[in-house]
Amino acid sequence: MFTAAAGTMLSLLAGRAMAETVHGVVVFTRHGDRTTKHYGAQTLTNLGTTQNFQIGSDYRARYIKSSSPHQILNISEFNYVPSQIYASAPNQGILLNTATAFLQGLYPPLADLNPSIATQTLNNGSESTSPLNGYQYITLQGIPPNSPDAIWIKGDDNCPAVTQASQSFESSPEFTTKLTSTREFYQSLFPVLKSVYDITSPEDLSYASAYDIYDLINVARLHNSSFSISPSQLFQLRTLADSAEFAYNFNASQPERSIHARTLSSAILTQLNKTVALEGALKFSLLAGSYDAFLAFFGLAGLTEVSESFYGLPDYASTMAFELYSPETRTSFPEEKDLWVRFLFKNGTAGGLDSWPLFGTGRESLSWGEFTREMKRRAIGSAEEWCSACGSSDGFCATYTGVAAEMFTRGGMPNAIAGVVGAAVTLVVLGIVGLMAFLFVRRRRSGGSVVVMADEKGSVRSGSTGAGKL
Ligand SMILES: *[C@@H]1O[C@H](CO)[C@@H](O)[C@H](O)[C@H]1NC(C)=O
Ligand SMILES: *[C@@H]1O[C@H](CO)[C@@H](O)[C@H](O)[C@H]1NC(C)=O
Ligand SMILES: *[C@@H]1O[C@H](CO)[C@@H](O)[C@H](O)[C@H]1NC(C)=O
Ligand SMILES: *[C@@H]1O[C@H](CO)[C@@H](O)[C@H](O)[C@H]1NC(C)=O
Ligand SMILES: *[C@@H]1O[C@H](CO)[C@@H](O)[C@H](O)[C@H]1NC(C)=O
Ligand SMILES: *[C@@H]1O[C@H](CO)[C@@H](O)[C@H](O)[C@H]1NC(C)=O
Repeated sequence: MFTAAAGTMLSLLAGRAMAETVHGVVVFTRHGDRTTKHYGAQTLTNLGTTQNFQIGSDYRARYIKSSSPHQILNISEFNYVPSQIYASAPNQGILLNTATAFLQGLYPPLADLNPSIATQTLNNGSESTSPLNGYQYITLQGIPPNSPDAIWIKGDDNCPAVTQASQSFESSPEFTTKLTSTREFYQSLFPVLKSVYDITSPEDLSYASAYDIYDLINVARLHNSSFSISPSQLFQLRTLADSAEFAYNFNASQPERSIHARTLSSAILTQLNKTVALEGALKFSLLAGSYDAFLAFFGLAGLTEVSESFYGLPDYASTMAFELYSPETRTSFPEEKDLWVRFLFKNGTAGGLDSWPLFGTGRESLSWGEFTREMKRRAIGSAEEWCSACGSSDGFCATYTGVAAEMFTRGGMPNAIAGVVGAAVTLVVLGIVGLMAFLFVRRRRSGGSVVVMADEKGSVRSGSTGAGKL
């Protein structure tokens, strides 16, 4: 749903595109179609990898092909140049594979693309092509879940303040009202879900598991030939899941609910800023993450005030892009005052990559200076700040808080001893936090009516590398 204002801006944008020069872009993507989260260990399906690959190809068409008016200045059209591209995903199979499939679309095998550069000639005169038709091996940075860098894409994982704030939605009048008004609807779905091992009575189904139920049904309708659901029931399930997930991820009067969007904002700004600092040498950054960060960012950036559609879950393989450009034809990197940023969103594989105004400005382009200020105002820019916002002393946060930090910084103790004591303190802290997390997760689970063994939050919070909200 476009507002009249956004429509006008889009037509202006289309008219102006020819006279612009793009210098860099940061893309945040969701995974494609996958198996249901309900049983855990979800993976991308063939359809899912195809979707992420397709989106990568779409971005190739816009930013890399020389025939595009939006081609990034001086980007390599055929062969991958490592200094121009950055890609990162949390160490979770589904997100690493999402990024890989996207990158395969961005820089496809060279033999198909440009046979003349697919081949290298050896000293003895024979020719060599890399495997799979000149496949291009693009470096992808995987981020371990317990590393301080994990906060940029998944700032909600292991963050007690997000969990508590998110959880508090379930004590709100909005939640209680929906729980009651939808009880009959959810219970009526028991016949279609009774084959799921842990759904044993109609009472197991309620708004408290809105996303879980929608996900089970949505995956079944796409992959299970003996399953069927009416379009109106599916619509109702999706919109109820939309309302619940948006609420879990954003509340204007409770900033802690969106800490993950605030770290993501920082990651996006950092990548764009590298493009600026390196005068355009870094050209394309890709980050793969999950829908909860999209929803939280939509709220944080004021997009829901521009269009109601931002309250809805983004489809599989959705992307948002931050494009750094100058509003004229250029052959070199401009001064900072001539740089602008535009926000674009593409909902799944269908539809266009459309531009939307950020931060309630009503303008689809912001000067680099204004964009930087607005992002910084919202961003959480360091691990230390994140630890404090999360109220976390877990893992690496121990370095910033209490006894452990003091010992590490005072330097009065031989390193080896300090290390042992520090580790012991960390273990105790980890133990306490782990126990709390366990109890919390159990409470949350038993509060709902569906008993889920490996929940999106639970599996991550208890320290495994399982997928978060995907
Ligand atoms: C040339 O060298 C490559 C790599 O050592 C080898 O695989 C190939 O068989 C050689 N070709 C000829 C014609 O000797
Ligand atoms: C949003 O946060 C406020 C303040 O904490 C709270 O009163 C309200 O119930 C919350 N709304 C929802 C939908 O969670
Ligand atoms: C497919 O759907 C049918 C009907 O709901 C159900 O009985 C069956 O268990 C489902 N199969 C799988 C693999 O989920
Ligand atoms: C942007 O880059 C400059 C130069 O490297 C650096 O001094 C500054 O701290 C960076 N700002 C952000 C927000 O990353
Ligand atoms: C994306 O598409 C879904 C329906 O598939 C819709 O609910 C949601 O509002 C859309 N989001 C945006 C921002 O257009
Ligand atoms: C682009 O490449 C050309 C030729 O290789 C060079 O002269 C120019 O400075 C480069 N521009 C930028 C912005 O790097």
